[in-house]
Amino acid sequence: MKTYLVTGGAGFIGSNFIQYMFEKYDNDINIINVDDLTYAGNLDNLNSINDRENYKFIKKNICNANKIRKIFLSNNVDYIVNFAAESHVDRSIRNPEVFIRTNVMGTLVLLNIAKEFWQQDDDNFKKGKKFIQVSTDEVYGSLEDKHDYFYENTPLDPHSPYSASKASADLLVKSYINTYKFPANITRCSNNYGPYQFPEKLIPLMINNALEGKKLPIYGDGKNIRDWLYVKDHVKAIDMIINNGRLGEVYNIGGHNEKENIEVAHIILDTLLELLDKEDNRKKHIKKNLIAYIKDRKGHDRRYAICPNKIKKELNWYPETSFEEGIKLTIKWYLKNNQWMKKITSGDYLNYYEEMYH
Ligand code: NAD
Ligand code: TYD
Repeated sequence: MKTYLVTGGAGFIGSNFIQYMFEKYDNDINIINVDDLTYAGNLDNLNSINDRENYKFIKKNICNANKIRKIFLSNNVDYIVNFAAESHVDRSIRNPEVFIRTNVMGTLVLLNIAKEFWQQDDDNFKKGKKFIQVSTDEVYGSLEDKHDYFYENTPLDPHSPYSASKASADLLVKSYINTYKFPANITRCSNNYGPYQFPEKLIPLMINNALEGKKLPIYGDGKNIRDWLYVKDHVKAIDMIINNGRLGEVYNIGGHNEKENIEVAHIILDTLLELLDKEDNRKKHIKKNLIAYIKDRKGHDRRYAICPNKIKKELNWYPETSFEEGIKLTIKWYLKNNQWMKKITSGDYLNYYEEMYH
């Protein structure tokens, strides 16, 4: 039975991954979730699996080498899936330090401890062990030509403190692959959306604001393009890469679903109008004039677009959820889980929101 050490499993993608893995493998796997529960970590995301005997939550910082070593000493870890990160570009522009600590130093700690426990002798690692570095398309920088795409060998050219920290971590993982033949894969996915995403990111922020009759803040001219992927398609790809990805390889993950931000805002408003009951009070204030253009993000990347041909060809992965379907599923989830949203948008979130948007 394989044991997965999932870091950042209380966040958006990590919690979707853990749920997906238990739906698929049920009692045939063990998962240890190490998460420090920053503002983005939320144990409510894992309510459905908290009581499982083959699941354990440990509140720890991935930078804490002694604590991570202890986890390795008392568990036979087969896979590390490293989701733990500071993940929001706007926050990285305001406070880069913690991005370097968690995203770079934290990854280094995990690499060193995995190496310590998995290495048999020079150039030899125990069979069946693997480190998955969950990275992002943002490490490639920004595309200007609309016919251009990010490939796995596109040079890294990060522009924000966030993407610079993720690119640095990728380079560390690569260096361990090259130097020690360390068993790892790097995954680079495009923008995710879906249930449990924290409302600092575009899609849940727009859904929440629209439901509350607040402005939908669009940076700059609204024509920046992101390549959106439903989170379940991402976590499915990660599972495939764990099982069948060739050691040492990078895999881009994306579904050719490019949209301008302003288009996304309109789709959200239209879908909310379609899904909300006539009698629902919130329907009254959902109007197109909620959209408000505001000052652009500093160094705002213009366009991201992934070429997913490698993962399609090698692993037969393909996205199963279209944007039309995925955005409906997502909005339905947020409508049903109003309490989840209410709980996390009180307290600290209000200070963040005030500082960002006023
Ligand atoms: P998130 O911000 O929702 O969750 C991050 C989680 O990591 C939280 O639970 C947080 O508590 C935890 N964490 C933060 N610092 C930690 C530390 N030092 N030690 C232990 N835990 C810590 O992020 P997400 O959107 O779920 O992203 C997960 C990963 O996927 C990140 O590495 C991100 O770079 C990558 N990624 C995200 C996207 C996206 O669209 N969200 C796209 C591609 C790749
Ligand atoms: P975001 O969800 O922060 O993801 P990333 O910056 O990692 O791609 O932002 C997605 C896009 O939406 C990006 O072009 C910035 C833009 N955006 C807004 O226009 N307004 C907002 O309030 C936010 C949070 C993002």
